[in-house]
Order: sequence, then C-alpha cells, then structure tokens
Amino acid sequence: MIRYALLINPQAQGAYFKDTLSVAQAEFQAVIGDEAIEHKPVGPFHFFHANLSEVQLKQAIRLSFVQGVFQVEADQLIPLDCEADFQLHDDFVFGSKYRGKTNEHLTQLLLNVGLANLPTQNQPINILDPMCGRGTTLLWALRYGLNAKGIEQDVKAVDDIKQSLKKWTKLHRQKHKILEGFIGKANKKGLGKFLEFSTNDQKMRIINGDSRDAATLIKSEKFDLIISDLPYGVQHFTTDKTRNPLAVIDECIPGWKKALKKNGAIVLAFNSYIPKRAELIECFENHGFKAQAFTAPHRMSESIVRDILVLKLPE
Ligand SMILES: C[S@@+](CC[C@H](N)C(=O)[O-])C[C@H]1O[C@@H](n2cnc3c(N)ncnc32)[C@H](O)[C@@H]1O
Repeated sequence: MIRYALLINPQAQGAYFKDTLSVAQAEFQAVIGDEAIEHKPVGPFHFFHANLSEVQLKQAIRLSFVQGVFQVEADQLIPLDCEADFQLHDDFVFGSKYRGKTNEHLTQLLLNVGLANLPTQNQPINILDPMCGRGTTLLWALRYGLNAKGIEQDVKAVDDIKQSLKKWTKLHRQKHKILEGFIGKANKKGLGKFLEFSTNDQKMRIINGDSRDAATLIKSEKFDLIISDLPYGVQHFTTDKTRNPLAVIDECIPGWKKALKKNGAIVLAFNSYIPKRAELIECFENHGFKAQAFTAPHRMSESIVRDILVLKLPE
C-alpha cells in the first residue's frame, strides 16, 4: 500500500457546495471501501490522504471529486502523471450548457456509486436513464465505455442532443454513426422518436416519451443500472405538472423494475424536500425494492437539499 493525496477538484464545489467534503467521503467509501481517509487542507487546496492499492488508485482517479493524485513521501507531495482512461473528449459531457442540466460531477458520482453496487461479473454493462433530459448520464456512460439508453418527455431533447453531438464529433474528429427513427409508428408529436449514437464500440439511444411507458419504449431490454436525476419539483416539472414527482415515480416503478436485471441497482438523485427520503424509500419498498444505506445529502439552495438513494431487489 502506498500513501496518496487526492486533490479535491474545486469544480466539485459547484456540485456539492458546502457539503463537498462529506459527499466526497461518502463516494470514497462507497467506491473504494472503509479505508481511513484524512482531510488535509494546504492553503487553498483540499486533499484526502489514504493508503491505496494499485486497483484502488485506478478507482480513485475516477471519483467525481478528484482533480489529480499525488504520492505522499514524508512531508512532500509528488504529482502523479495519471489520468482516467475515458473514451470520449470531456466536451461531450461538460461542453454543452443548458437549463436543467444535472451537474456533471454529480452525474459521475451516480455512475460510480451504481457501478460499485454491481457484482463484478456483470459485463458488458448497460445503463438506463428513464428521465434523461439532454443526456448527461448517457454521455458519461459512453465515456466509461458503457452502453446507455434514455427516455425523456421533452420533445426538443432529441434534436438538442443531435445538435451538440454534431458539434463535438466535428470538433474532436470523433468517428461515429447516428441513426434516427421511431419506436412504433412515426407521428408528428414525436412520441417514440429516437436518436442512436454509436462511437468506438458503444451505443447510446435517447427516446422521446413518458417514462411511465418505459415497458413499451424499451421493450424487453434489461439494464444493470437505472440512474436518474429526478425532476426537482421546483425547477423541473413532471409530465403531470405536479410539484411532487412521487406520484409519477410510483407509476414508473413497475416499468423500471421490469427493465432492471436481477442483480442490478437503481441510483437516484432527488430533492429531499419533495419527496422526503423516507417517502421515496416507502414508494420503492411498496414495489419490492430494498433501500441501501448510501446517502450524500448536500444543500444546493434554500429550497433544494439534494440526496442520493440506491435501491436493489432482494436476492
Ligand atoms: C433533473 S432533469 C434531468 C436532467 C438530465 N440529467 C440532464 O443533465 O440533461 C429531470 C428530467 O425528467 C424529465 N421528466 C419528468 N417527468 C418525466 C416523465 N414522466 N417521463 C420522461 N421524462 C420525464 C424532465 O423533462 C427533465 O428533463
């Protein structure tokens, strides 16, 4: 075991605000394990020091809050020339900015926590974001070398994603294929319209539709992980224009459950003011899910304290 110092990315504060250290610690423990970590500020820099194996070091480089890694020798920090081996340029995830976008670091955390909850034999890994907006989760999945599918009710999302994919593929000369079509009959409302983007050996598909119709939209396909940043009520309304997304989620769960592999996991970010964590857990437990211990509450504003819930089906 070698002692390393993980430099906390100042950008992570844009995701986790004043709770950056506790969220970072929760992510570290979920992904790396219960190894002791020590917070050491140096001037404006914040580090987590920990003893890590070679495998753990590779995992640590992908933690959502880590900007870089140093080796600790006596009182000296030696910067390591190591970067995560992602598949696409970071512009694909970070480049496009739009209203309602989920913070990119938070999305990476959801993916990391989800992957840590899967048995290692699950390969290749397939991800569903059933309320995917303009695809931050799907694009992160591609960067991780995974396949992903998304459902989004906003008819404009498919075209917006297409425009940004065109921009970044051209700028970064990324070889790719785009396929467009409809699930079911073509229609002017755009329901069931999809866009599929293939690059390297991965594929992502975004489908326009209501997540309550997930079973029809994704047919019998099964996913290892269902990851989503739920509508916050305050900023993003659900299809029913209610402030509380719980009623819609309750209607979505049967379709999501059908789409989840037996040993898979659901990872959700939500505003813990509406619904409360206990209410969201109860809703899923009524459908046979078991809530996992992971929690990472962080205040985003007066009306939003975002938290993360991991759910699995009993074995
Ligand atoms: C917090 S946003 C997700 C943003 C996304 N992660 C991104 O970065 O682009 C929640 C999304 O859920 C969508 N949504 C709400 N109810 C839905 C439903 N019943 N079916 C499909 N999408 C829904 C909203 O339109 C919104 O885009």
